[in-house]
Amino acid sequence: MIVSSVASILVYISGWLSGQPELHLEGPSVVSPPQLQFELRHLHAVSADPSPRIVFADVQRHELQSSPSFLVDTTGTTKFSYDINTRSTKVQKPSSFEAYSNARMRSLRFRESEPVIWQDDETPGPDVENRLTLLELAKMTNNAYVDPDDPQWYDIGNWTSSYPFGWEPDADGFRGHVFATPDNSTVVISIKGTSAGLFGRGGPTAAKDKLNDNLLFSCCCARVDWTWTTVCNCYGGGWKCDNTCVQNALIEESLFYPIGTNLFNNITYMYPNSNIWVIGHSLGGALASLVGVTFGLPVVTFESPGERMAATRLHLPLPPSTHHVTHVYHTADPIPMGTCNGVLSSCALGGYAMESRCHLGKSIIYDTVSDAAWAVDVRTHGIVTIIERLLSDPWPPSEEAGRQVPVPAPENDCVECYSWEFEN
Ligand SMILES: *[C@@H]1O[C@H](CO)[C@@H](O)[C@H](O)[C@H]1NC(C)=O
Ligand SMILES: *[C@@H]1O[C@H](CO)[C@@H](O)[C@H](O)[C@H]1NC(C)=O
Ligand SMILES: *[C@@H]1O[C@H](CO)[C@@H](O)[C@H](O)[C@H]1NC(C)=O
Repeated sequence: MIVSSVASILVYISGWLSGQPELHLEGPSVVSPPQLQFELRHLHAVSADPSPRIVFADVQRHELQSSPSFLVDTTGTTKFSYDINTRSTKVQKPSSFEAYSNARMRSLRFRESEPVIWQDDETPGPDVENRLTLLELAKMTNNAYVDPDDPQWYDIGNWTSSYPFGWEPDADGFRGHVFATPDNSTVVISIKGTSAGLFGRGGPTAAKDKLNDNLLFSCCCARVDWTWTTVCNCYGGGWKCDNTCVQNALIEESLFYPIGTNLFNNITYMYPNSNIWVIGHSLGGALASLVGVTFGLPVVTFESPGERMAATRLHLPLPPSTHHVTHVYHTADPIPMGTCNGVLSSCALGGYAMESRCHLGKSIIYDTVSDAAWAVDVRTHGIVTIIERLLSDPWPPSEEAGRQVPVPAPENDCVECYSWEFEN
């Protein structure tokens, strides 16, 4: 039954593939950024060992062919690759990960800042103002592929039923895919988030993941009301919160950020000379962004909760510009909007307090509430909704403005947790 729901998604997916971008042959005077073609190379996941670590599975072409969920286009042709338009993207990289880590440690321990030597670089990144590029990237964050040995891989959750979070209940937290161009020049790390624990399962890291999520994306230890057990003891009554306490709790407990940096280090070990991009959906998008600002990588996220507060609480040194990070989300999804947090909200029912709302970098925000009369509903959070309902067709308000997607803009005036008073 689960498998058949995957199959029905694929029927949808096959419809979009017919709208593949045409190949434009360039005349000698026309220099346009190259289009890259990616193929799936590896699956990655966090192992369920007592000490969680990143595990990889290589994907062979014949495995895709024999799996029920490889992508087939409308002509019945198997599609193994994703075509992505590129554009030159300015990034800022720390001079070394060591310099970065030292600056971070100094900020953590002594609350002092150290100039991280940021180096400007220009790299081919995804053309984020091209709708079909966003669509392909969104598909690359989808769980349409399967690990042939793992029946759990099929379990993308009950997104069509009555309690669909869209946070696919993976077994052990973060997992995803690694795509590469045939010549290995560019590699995309795709990170899917977790909802481990939501359905009473989720392996040994589930409780910790949830704790982390609540530390990272709630204002004060997931204090919702008196019926809730908070995830740290920093709540000072009323609307007061001890900020240092929140940071310490996060830094002591956090698995979230190290999972991302380890994953990146592992990929650079496999692909030492490649340009690396990071993409992700939901919590995976937040992690993609934190990894991207750490290493200076092009990032695209879908429906990520606001991660700016998390970056601050983790004491990540931020480069002068984070514009190589692009968030794509829509206004009917309460998770990136930071509104999935009332006592009766579906997030709270799942044990999550998603309150952060400010994003780093630039955001492409689809106003689905005003422009398409969508109702605010956490069920619009799933990546399948983004693929099917948001990106697969032209977006009329953008089209009228002669654009393909809403204008990417930094969230300059965003205020976090305004009703709280933070001490220290
Ligand atoms: C999906 O729903 C069915 C029936 O409601 C239930 O038996 C199953 O456990 C659910 N799956 C998940 C992953 O929650
Ligand atoms: C690309 O990288 C993989 C390692 O994952 C290697 O096996 C393969 O030979 C490389 N291909 C090219 C064309 O360099
Ligand atoms: C991945 O990274 C971790 C920590 O950085 C390291 O211990 C592990 O050996 C790496 N694994 C691979 C396959 O590179």
